[in-house]
Amino acid sequence: MYFLKTFVLTNKKLSLFSAVVLVVVQAEERYMYDQYWITVALREMYGVTTIRKTMAEIEAEGDLRPDGTLVINGRPVAIVYFRAGYSPADYPSEAEWRARLLIERSSAIKCPSIAHHLVGTKKIQQELAKENVLERFLDNQSDIENVRKCFAGLWSLENDIIVNSAIESPELFVLKPQREGGGNNIYGDNLRETLIRLRKDGSNETAAYILMQRIFPPASPSYLVREGTFVRDNVVSEFGIFGAYLRNNDKVIINDQCGYLLRTKAASLNEGGVVAGYAFLNSIFLT
Ligand SMILES: *[C@@H]1O[C@H](CO)[C@@H](O)[C@H](O)[C@H]1NC(C)=O
Ligand SMILES: *[C@@H]1O[C@H](CO)[C@@H](O)[C@H](O)[C@H]1NC(C)=O
Repeated sequence: MYFLKTFVLTNKKLSLFSAVVLVVVQAEERYMYDQYWITVALREMYGVTTIRKTMAEIEAEGDLRPDGTLVINGRPVAIVYFRAGYSPADYPSEAEWRARLLIERSSAIKCPSIAHHLVGTKKIQQELAKENVLERFLDNQSDIENVRKCFAGLWSLENDIIVNSAIESPELFVLKPQREGGGNNIYGDNLRETLIRLRKDGSNETAAYILMQRIFPPASPSYLVREGTFVRDNVVSEFGIFGAYLRNNDKVIINDQCGYLLRTKAASLNEGGVVAGYAFLNSIFLT
């Protein structure tokens, strides 16, 4: 999900208005080259210019015109594509929050919009998994049941019964902070100790975590290739679908799938994440 965030561009007329695509990046950007791939495609296929700015630069150089157009150094911005802004580290000061507010107040197409950004967060997944919440968003009972079947158990740390079970059997749970990418989840003894500490502190830090039922997918033997060498191992995979979604207020213009990402890791590893160094890119083989 973090490799290529949902990205939609249908307006070939952008170049006529000399508006640009603004890619929001981190100051030290390790994904620079896959971002350049998109930049080059936009330029070569659509004649669209891309500019790259950090949140701090956007706050320093950005402005809103009275009609809501976001301008950076005088250039109108058609689309803001967030490749940063998903982690607290991306908001080291109030300046970055002001930049986010500036973007959200503008008429530029945001990829993702703040609503779409939030709906992907673990906290919202946890809310959606509560009783009678899906019913607020879907009418069709069979759709509701199908969606609910896909949910793993998700609980807040206010749920004492679940917290007690997790302290007793940490291997059946994952403790997740509200973060993106690999390397943040808490497992096993660490999970137990963290829950005990949080409970003792009585701290409001509990709100920062969710407890999730641990999923045990079937493992199968495979070869993992890295830097020209390979190992044979038992592996598990995670299958993700890319979505393309474009709307103008209530009018949905595109809502479609546009490819997939299959990530595979050794079954013995807790952590996933390709860039984090745990998982490998893979492709589907239907049998
Ligand atoms: C609900 O959705 C299912 C498909 O998921 C469809 O077959 C059925 O007709 C729908 N029911 C209603 C009442 O719209
Ligand atoms: C947690 O508590 C501290 C100190 O009481 C407070 O400053 C902070 O805003 C609280 N955080 C949340 C998320 O409620």
